[in-house]
Amino acid sequence: MKSLLLITMLLCLSSVLAIRQRYPTVPPNEVLEDESSFSNINEVRTNHFDLAVIIDFDNTLIYGTQTLHFDVVADHVSNVFLDVRDLLISQVTDDQGRNLDFQVRAGVNDELGQRLEITLADEYSSGSALTLTINYVTSKNPSAVSWLTPEQTAGGQLPYMYTQCESIHCRSIAPLQDTPAIKATYTFYSQSREDLIVRASGNLTDEYVQDGVRHTKFIMEIPVVSYLLAFASGNLVERQLGSRTYVITEPELVEKSVSELSRLNEAVEAAETYLTPYEWGVYKVLMLPPSFPYGGMENPLLTFANSGLINGDRSSFRLFVHELSHSWFGNLVTNENWSNFWLNEGFTVFLERKTDSILFDRNTSKVSSQLGNSSMYMQIEGFGLDSNYTSLHPDLNGNHPDTSISGIPYEKGFQFLVYLESLVGEETFRSFLQSYVDTFSYKSLEVEDFISFFIDFVSAEVEYNQARSVLDQIDWQTWVYSPGYPPVTVDFGTDSYDNAIKIANDLVQNTFSQEDQDIYAEFNLDQRIIVVNEMVRSTDILIASDVERINSQIDLSSETNPRLIASWLMVAIPTGYEASPFPNAEAYVGSLGRYALISPIYQEMIKVDRDASWEIFRRHENFYHPITREIIRDLLVAEVDPNAPPIAAIF
Ligand SMILES: *[C@@H]1O[C@H](CO)[C@@H](O)[C@H](O)[C@H]1NC(C)=O
Ligand SMILES: *[C@@H]1O[C@H](CO)[C@@H](O)[C@H](O)[C@H]1NC(C)=O
Ligand SMILES: *[C@@H]1O[C@H](CO)[C@@H](O)[C@H](O)[C@H]1NC(C)=O
Ligand SMILES: *[C@@H]1O[C@H](CO)[C@@H](O)[C@H](O)[C@H]1NC(C)=O
Ligand SMILES: *[C@@H]1O[C@H](CO)[C@@H](O)[C@H](O)[C@H]1NC(C)=O
Ligand SMILES: [Zn+2]
Repeated sequence: MKSLLLITMLLCLSSVLAIRQRYPTVPPNEVLEDESSFSNINEVRTNHFDLAVIIDFDNTLIYGTQTLHFDVVADHVSNVFLDVRDLLISQVTDDQGRNLDFQVRAGVNDELGQRLEITLADEYSSGSALTLTINYVTSKNPSAVSWLTPEQTAGGQLPYMYTQCESIHCRSIAPLQDTPAIKATYTFYSQSREDLIVRASGNLTDEYVQDGVRHTKFIMEIPVVSYLLAFASGNLVERQLGSRTYVITEPELVEKSVSELSRLNEAVEAAETYLTPYEWGVYKVLMLPPSFPYGGMENPLLTFANSGLINGDRSSFRLFVHELSHSWFGNLVTNENWSNFWLNEGFTVFLERKTDSILFDRNTSKVSSQLGNSSMYMQIEGFGLDSNYTSLHPDLNGNHPDTSISGIPYEKGFQFLVYLESLVGEETFRSFLQSYVDTFSYKSLEVEDFISFFIDFVSAEVEYNQARSVLDQIDWQTWVYSPGYPPVTVDFGTDSYDNAIKIANDLVQNTFSQEDQDIYAEFNLDQRIIVVNEMVRSTDILIASDVERINSQIDLSSETNPRLIASWLMVAIPTGYEASPFPNAEAYVGSLGRYALISPIYQEMIKVDRDASWEIFRRHENFYHPITREIIRDLLVAEVDPNAPPIAAIF
């Protein structure tokens, strides 16, 4: 038995080594910087980890054994520092089985977690390898995990759990170098209840039930950053959609999920046609319960998505195109730290809209660019025009990275790329992006790397005089580092957008005619959202009776699309049409956990009646994922400026 075990271990080790060699690693002398991590990434770098967990539903705990393989990249290394958040560590050993001393040290900001300081038994020098194994258990409420009771699921019979690691929540479920600067391959092995399926970000390699325990194993062979680790356990079934695409969800949600995702396979092909081949093998979507704190999360081989956004009109399909687009930007080419988040999101939005224009048409993607622009403008005004959070390079200054996440890295980043494309032309920009993906895949980069790469590419590929004129025009400094609106206004003009704005103005000014009525009757969902968003900007001049009149003209209260309802509540609450105790708003925020949609609604309710908002929150806080819960609680205790502009409802 023993020798068999040894042979298996050796086999595992050699396959791990084979995996590692396939991909380039960061040169040891390259200095990495991430203020949101406590780990000593310029001394040791994880290249692979093997994480084994027991998911204990009875006690809402996760017991883990984490084995981390490091490359040592400096001399005289005698400590390893890792990121943890509220983990109880029981033992740390090295590859010779020696027990190592460790301590957990708190930082100034609890929300960033703590530093696990491990003292090595020897000093290591650059070029050597190091393996550590850590046994631990999580807290009952790790910031990455949502534990759902049966009542919170679609089936209502079995419990459910899922994780959400981006931005820095992975440290609450496993000790690691929790930074987007480091990429590693991994294996993930779980034990769960026999009646609960486990799915994780990776290829499934083994699944069996033994003695009442379900064992499931996965492997991730492409190096990825820690925030992409994800797993879920619940009553799940899997359905194939196309040659490479699948959906996984509770049996009750299969039908509507399949219908929403009917064009997923086509979307993979469209994105590949524009950019480079899809590298990950299959593409699977896990449709989660409505409490999921986001619309979607691009976990590789297992995109997570919020089923609460599906209402039968296929209007959330663009969200899936967005998550799919992360298969290139974010998952292959990644921001090195959270000040560079737009390198993930701006590029992803760019590919998303290119893919949309192949799948649908250019006007559709222009309209979505306009919608994105209008919510970005509101968000910039919400933060304040001189807040560095409105730049493409926010300074976190010790804050949790989640505080700096808004539509700005998405939309301002997107507009920056559209601007660059307009200077060099669509075909040149496309080959630039292909070359950018080829060069930076499996790596993390910061904005200065992108800028030099762009300059080098244009200098090499574009005719000399034109290249000079292009490069002379670009104000990198303002685009990237200055707060406020984008310095150049690109053009997304379409009739659909202009018509919707005109209708909104007529409604607000009470000049809505029969002709307007006929035009509005033909509007698609995006155009209806534009109308309502535009009215959000006019709430200071509207009162409840105006909103009642508008509602009688275009019947907004019978709309069922979740994005549209969010915008509508953003008109109804500040004007008093939806008054305290906010019954419709409560129905909405109590049934959806996507914080980007519900936190602006809480914000508006708090301005009107903080006590009633607290009561609503208390009634629903157990429904929320810890990420959403924390954001809403922060809003409830913060000072509010009653005159502050609304934060935009959509991104
Ligand atoms: C990200 O890295 C850049 C330089 O590479 C640094 O200036 C910035 O402070 C870093 N931001 C964070 C949040 O670590
Ligand atoms: C998943 O498996 C497929 C098929 O073997 C392979 O092509 C792909 O690279 C694997 N993906 C990852 C991320 O390990
Ligand atoms: C950037 O904005 C954040 C959030 O408002 C703030 O905490 C930080 O101090 C700001 N940094 C600078 C240099 O002003
Ligand atoms: C974005 O919206 C603002 C405010 O409505 C407008 O001034 C600006 O021209 C828009 N930008 C684009 C690119 O459409
Ligand atoms: C796109 O919009 C332009 C101008 O707004 C219009 O002329 C054209 O017919 C539209 N194309 C489609 C496919 O709707
Ligand atoms: Zn995204």
